[in-house]
Parts: sequence; structure tokens; C-alpha cells
Amino acid sequence: MKLRSFRLVLSPSALLLLISAQLVAQQSVHLAVDASKIGAKIDRNLFGQFAENLGHGLYEGIWVGPDSPIPNTRGIRKDVVGALRDLKVPNVRWPGGCFADQYHWRKGIGPAAQRPATLNSAWGGVVDSNAFGTDEFMDFIHQIGSEAYVSANVGSGTPQEAAEWLEYMTAAAPTALAKERAANGHPEAYKVGFMGIGNESWSCGGDMTVDYYLSQLKIYSRFVSNDNPAQTGSIQMLKIAVGPGFPETDWTEAVMKAWQQHDWSWNFDGLSLHWYTTPNGWPPSTPSTGFEVADYTKSLKSTLFMEEFLRKQEAVMDKYDPQKKVALVVDEWGAWHAPLPGTNKDFLVQQNSLRDAILASLNLNIFARHADRVRMANIAQMINVLQAMILTDKEKMVLTPTYYLFKMYVPFQDATFIPIDFDPGTIHTNGITLPRADAIAAKDKTGKLWIEITNLDPEKALDVDAAITGISAKSARGETLTAAAVDSVNTFAAPSAVVPKVISATVKDGRLVLTVAPKSVTVISLEP
Ligand code: AHR
Repeated sequence: MKLRSFRLVLSPSALLLLISAQLVAQQSVHLAVDASKIGAKIDRNLFGQFAENLGHGLYEGIWVGPDSPIPNTRGIRKDVVGALRDLKVPNVRWPGGCFADQYHWRKGIGPAAQRPATLNSAWGGVVDSNAFGTDEFMDFIHQIGSEAYVSANVGSGTPQEAAEWLEYMTAAAPTALAKERAANGHPEAYKVGFMGIGNESWSCGGDMTVDYYLSQLKIYSRFVSNDNPAQTGSIQMLKIAVGPGFPETDWTEAVMKAWQQHDWSWNFDGLSLHWYTTPNGWPPSTPSTGFEVADYTKSLKSTLFMEEFLRKQEAVMDKYDPQKKVALVVDEWGAWHAPLPGTNKDFLVQQNSLRDAILASLNLNIFARHADRVRMANIAQMINVLQAMILTDKEKMVLTPTYYLFKMYVPFQDATFIPIDFDPGTIHTNGITLPRADAIAAKDKTGKLWIEITNLDPEKALDVDAAITGISAKSARGETLTAAAVDSVNTFAAPSAVVPKVISATVKDGRLVLTVAPKSVTVISLEP
């Protein structure tokens, strides 16, 4: 059968009907925010990052070397440092990940020409010049104004090796290792905020049973210490034990039970948790570009599982630690998609779209709601790997939608959580049910109220009507992140497809009113 092409011409009245039908289709949500109700502190460390020695995360992404034509400070890219400073990155986890349990720190110190080339057998077996070692990492941390979270090698190292690494970094007294650090250009002791004792020890970190891991944890906790005399009291180094990477709770049960019975000789302050958004299971297979709306909804559904995962693990922690002394540290999270076609599959290269920014907002909101226990988190990973903030190609750099999302959330760092009373409603698409909206609120140190609203609906705008009490607000200002499509990305050629834009909102007689676009994240501040 031959189809005849035809053009649809609408009369003005039909057009009016169509527009009003769309307006009816627009949805609404009512929020009640009482700023006098105070929750937990949203720890700034929830906005931490992860920079593993993997693919082009460190080499090319951060380190180009002092002789590179790419503008750098002591070998570290200036453009990347400038962008990261704006995120106020609270801490950076390094050198892994799986890589940490095969890293021998001595190979990465001293004159560059004398450092041995080694193989990165965790990630593609590529040659590692070791040019980016401990002093370069500390320089990077210093340049972006962050704190060091180092992962000790439990899998293929020894407690002695880890103890000497910590002494090299943190001893202020003139020990041989402190003198070696001074000879390498850094006489003052470094500050190390956090130390992970192993990584995924139930898998790539040595496939240990929990009992074997506990025997190692006790030894590393006892003998690997921070020697910096300035790091006492509230700024002492926190030790983080390996926790779960699966919804079952037996690992957490065993580690927390041991913690409850610990004596003076060992301890830890945080339990790590790893959970990635992989909507099609393992190996990750969702495309990071050119995907359908169905992939978007599936990804959001998968990411929302984080809430249930945290709740289960927290219930076990509460049993052994009702005072919540031990923090839950989600030090690997984010979207893990299929490798970009044409890239080395071991380098975990993926594009970053509006979908990723939206799912990041959902995760950050979950962490904020669990802030009494979840006091630290690290998105995987910082540059050129997995759900990155930044992508680079030689001298070029582009900031991803997730970068802008993190920038919009800066005001929530160390702010006080304010519970919101609301019914998010639901959306049903492609056989998946999702909440229509998500939202969090917090009060910053100056007393200003911040409200974040995520509209998950890929098609419909959302009218937001918020009753604000407990604070007097005269005006509202805000930014929103959205784009033409859920798979919109920023590229080197078109870097501004997904960037925050100013949104208008009105506040009058204690009511905040605004309309947010479909598939968007909005942050509003209420000015007294
Ligand atoms: O982030 C990539 C890898 O994922 C990490 O090295 C490992 O800890 C996890 O399995």
C-alpha cells in the first residue's frame, strides 16, 4: 500500500485546545518546609571524589608533567585545578579502588627519572611511569583545596609498608622517612584526613573471608598510624574499614560485631559501602550516549535502590552501634555504563548526560536524608573515568552535567538538614513506576534556607508550591539544570548543552511558587 503524505494544519481554536490540554497535563507538588525543625548535619564529606590510578583518570586527566605544553603547575593541569576548586571538593580518595591493593608507594617517590616503570595490572596492564606518586597527589590536593583520603594496600602489601607510608607522609619529627620527604621537597608533615584499610577485600582486594579480613583490619588499625602532631581531636585521621558491596548484610554484621567488642588496641571510624547504578546488571551495558527514555527511567529506578541498601546496612549498624559512632562511608557510587565504543574497555570511559546529573541528585538526596549515619561519600570517579566531573582530551577539557550538579549542591555542604513534608506522586513509563519528584531542604551556617527539587518526569513540567515556616523569606533565587533531552551531553565542540540557568521563583506570605521543567534539578535559596 502506498501511503500519501499529508500535513496537519490546526485551526486557532484547535491549537488553543492543544495548549490547554498540555497545561492540564502539567503536574503539581506541595511541599511543607518548617525551618525550625532541625535534622542532622549534611557533612561536606558527602561530596567527596574518587581518583583511582585507572585509564586517563590521573595520567592526562590530572598529571601532564612539568614539561607539557598544556598549562600546568608542577605537572598538574591548571584548567582541571581551576574547575575543581569551584566544587569545594572536601576529600579525594586515592590511589584506588582495586589498584590500591597492588600499589607500592615507594615506587612513586623521589626524582622522576629514578622511579621504576611498573604495570597497572588492575586496569589494562598498561605501563605506569609512577610519575604521579604520593608527593604529586598531595600537591594536587593542596592545589584544589581538598583533603587526602588514602587507601592502604592490604591485599599485596604489609602492615609495615603501610605504616612507613603514613610515617613518610605525616611524621613531623626528624625521622629518616620524614627527612626523605623533606629531601623530596616537602619538609612539613602532610595532613591525611582519612585512611581506608583495604578495598573490596571480599573481591579484588584479595577475595578474603570476613574473618581473614578482620584479622588484617585489627593489625593495620593497630600499627598504621598518623604521626602528624597537628592532627588531634576533631581533625584526627579517620580509619575506614571495608564494608559491603552487595545488599546482603552478613559482612556488615561480622565487622560491626567485632567493632562492638574492640578493645583499646584497635578501632575504626567508618565502614565503607560500594554501590553502583547498573540498570542492566553486570557487566554494565547501558549506553552513555544516544539512549532511549526507557533507559533513563530504568537508570533512575536502579539508582533509587540505594535507599533500601542503606536502610538494610544501617539497621545492622544500629544494632551494634546505636550511638552512631561509626560512619557509613559510601566511597564508591555513581552510574557505571558500557564503555564508550572505540575506547579501551579497561579504562572505563563513558560520556555523562543529563540523566547522570539527575541520578546524582537522587543519590545525594538519599545521603542527605541518612546524614546521621552516612557522613562521607565519594562519587566514582573524578576525571575521565565512569561518572566523571570532567572529561579531557589532550589540551581540551569539558565539564560534565554531573560537574554542574555538584556545583549547584555546594551550599548543602555542612548545612543542617530540614525535613520536608510532601507527597511526591508517581509517574509510570515503560512499565516502571518512579516518584514524580524528589526534594531536600537545608539551612546553611548563615541561616539561609536552601531547597532542592528534582523533577524526574521526562515529559511534564512540575508546579511547585511550598509552604515555608520557621524562617522569614522575602525573595527567592535559583538555578536549574535541564536540557533538550535526557541524553543531552556536553562535548568539546558544544560544552554548554547542559549547564545551569537562572530560574524565576516567587515568595510571598510564606509561600514559594515556581515551575520546574521536565527532567530537571533545581536549587533555590530563600533570602531573608
Ligand atoms: O571504580 C572502579 C572499581 O570499582 C574500583 O576500582 C573498585 O573498587 C570497584 O569495583
